[in-house]
Amino acid sequence: MSAEATAPGKIILFGEHSVVYKGPAILLAVDRRATVTASRRDDKRIYIDSEDLGFSGYFDDGEYTAVTGKEWRGRNMMALAVATRKVMAHLGVDAGVNLKVRSMIPIAVGLGSSAAVCVATTAAVGELFDGNLTKEKISELSFEGEKVIHGNPSGADNSIATYGGIMRYERGEGLKRLRLENALPFVIGNTRRKRSTRNMVEGVKVLKDRNPEVVDPIIYTMAGLSQTGLDALLRGDKHKLGDLMNINHGLLSAIGVSTIELDDLVYAARQEGALGAKLTGAGGGGCMIALAEEENLSNIEKSIRASRGQSMRVNVTDEGVKTRKIENGDS
Ligand code: PMV
Repeated sequence: MSAEATAPGKIILFGEHSVVYKGPAILLAVDRRATVTASRRDDKRIYIDSEDLGFSGYFDDGEYTAVTGKEWRGRNMMALAVATRKVMAHLGVDAGVNLKVRSMIPIAVGLGSSAAVCVATTAAVGELFDGNLTKEKISELSFEGEKVIHGNPSGADNSIATYGGIMRYERGEGLKRLRLENALPFVIGNTRRKRSTRNMVEGVKVLKDRNPEVVDPIIYTMAGLSQTGLDALLRGDKHKLGDLMNINHGLLSAIGVSTIELDDLVYAARQEGALGAKLTGAGGGGCMIALAEEENLSNIEKSIRASRGQSMRVNVTDEGVKTRKIENGDS
């Protein structure tokens, strides 16, 4: 017998960078998911097998032994082992587990891949040991894994991967969950350039400290835009949403977090009729998103690929973490 859990990735619609200082960030869960299958072992080890993330290896008393993996992803591996141990400690279980990790979410480009994998791991291990974990508990325990990867994350990524839907996050106010009535399609354009969120946030701080009289009002405008954007999203006003995405991209460029590759994909999408297009997440590489009417989506995807980007069509999803038991013989 084994247990399987899946959890969604995310995009940031508005508020990246400004949320560090002021106002809300608006996060949307998307229907690209990570899947983790957990099964029991005869020994006390944790074995993680992840073709998609490019590694597999054992954890034994905190020691890690790589079996395969060209790229060293120690922290990601450790995060899953930590989440697994936290679940077992919570349930009072002392056992070994095999984790098979599969993900349709590209890594390290701001789409919430690590949070989705951590949440799915936590939920799968909980289900394996009949833990009946609530969503709140899954989010809380998976956050322990996220901390291994990101140091001091806001908690927004593991929350959106747990609950799905829309989330408003503001420092000091925390998270508020919202639901979207209608499906909303986006095209994601991935520059495939990995970047560090930490370095991008630091770069904005340096610019802001040197030019507060200019950068502070930009941050202030982005904070207001983010709240206005949430209102437009909840009303389903696509045209206003598109306008605000375009303006937001300009402001993010002004604070130095866009790149020529991101700009290329943004303009390629707009040329094919996107209502709005902007970078999403920390910038410096990673991804952009475009909102469009259904009939333009295919051409936007083509133009992103023609501009050397990887394109993905996604829908906002209300479906958060999902868990099921797999009896022997099932798949
Ligand atoms: O690219 P991501 O998903 O790591 O998003 C970063 C969002 C920032 O606002 C740039 C940083 C943060 O901690 O909020």
